[in-house]
Amino acid sequence: MTVCQEEIQKMTLQAPKTGTTIQLFTGKGGVGKTTLSTACALGYAQTKRTLLLSTDPAGSLGEIFGCDFQEQAVAVSPNLDVVELSRRAVLKLWHEKFADDIFTVLSAFLPVERDILDYIEGAPGIDEEFMLSYLLDVQQSGKYDMIIWDAAPTSTTLKLLELQKLFYAHLTDAQKMYLKFKGLFKDADPLQLIGQWRQLTQDVITMLKNETSAWIVANPERLPVEQALLIAAALADFGIKVNGYIMNKLLSEEICDGSDFLEKKFRAQQRWRESLISRTALPILQVKELTGDLTDPEELLLLSKKLDISSFL
Ligand SMILES: Nc1ncnc2c1ncn2[C@@H]1O[C@H](COP(=O)(O)OP(=O)(O)O)[C@@H](O)[C@H]1O
Ligand SMILES: [Mg+2]
Repeated sequence: MTVCQEEIQKMTLQAPKTGTTIQLFTGKGGVGKTTLSTACALGYAQTKRTLLLSTDPAGSLGEIFGCDFQEQAVAVSPNLDVVELSRRAVLKLWHEKFADDIFTVLSAFLPVERDILDYIEGAPGIDEEFMLSYLLDVQQSGKYDMIIWDAAPTSTTLKLLELQKLFYAHLTDAQKMYLKFKGLFKDADPLQLIGQWRQLTQDVITMLKNETSAWIVANPERLPVEQALLIAAALADFGIKVNGYIMNKLLSEEICDGSDFLEKKFRAQQRWRESLISRTALPILQVKELTGDLTDPEELLLLSKKLDISSFL
């Protein structure tokens, strides 16, 4: 284990608790993350100050609540705010918050113009990186008791976590490198800014380890189940607590009666449900294939009561 990895390992012990809990809903695209996270946010909002945050580029909260939630959180009821962070919105916020600092650091040792920022903005991972910094700001503001985070499909979420460690290691190296040049910078001291970014990354990792837990949503089919298990392993590896799985869209046996097609489908689903049960010790909550309007907040609230995720925390 490198020194940097050891530091990351220890972060979980140091951070103070803020009282704002984050519950992440993740899983393969189309399995029901937005539906279930919206239901749970509506449920929590009955008693807690709740934020429903979507970072899925294919977000659909706007359609569910009939508003535009881009860039800013909008109150949809006294205890519930909703925000959908698009890549464009994230980059705009990034620009406002970090662009000047980055230019200060770069121009301290390179003859660059401000359009260098456009290139940096296009670098892979910048939007994810900033999204986490946004989440940290909201989490530390103390404005909410609960943040329900409807996360982008699998690979982006996992990439985003891995990036934190890389970023932290990179900034640690950068700090060492700049120390060698200390005294050469005329107009600005990049070391101070790099120190702040390193602290920010450390705070993000700590927030993910200490205040965040995850639900992994899957449908009873091969790909969602296999992906769910991979995500669970990756999250656990990073240090994020996995509360359990939510197996969504299960057919009920009664409705299959008499239909060869549905009976076959029911049996296949049961095999994948059993496969998941045999491969995890974590709770598996089950939600049936529903026929109601799952964009209707009343229906979603009923669903959250049936699901009762807080009793599994
Ligand atoms: N239990 C369920 N029964 C029937 N349809 C569902 C159920 N859960 C979700 N859906 C529907 O499945 C589709 C995908 O759900 P969504 O929540 O948008 O998935 P994701 O956010 O994971 O991409 C939506 O049309 C949604 O209404
Ligand atoms: Mg979604």
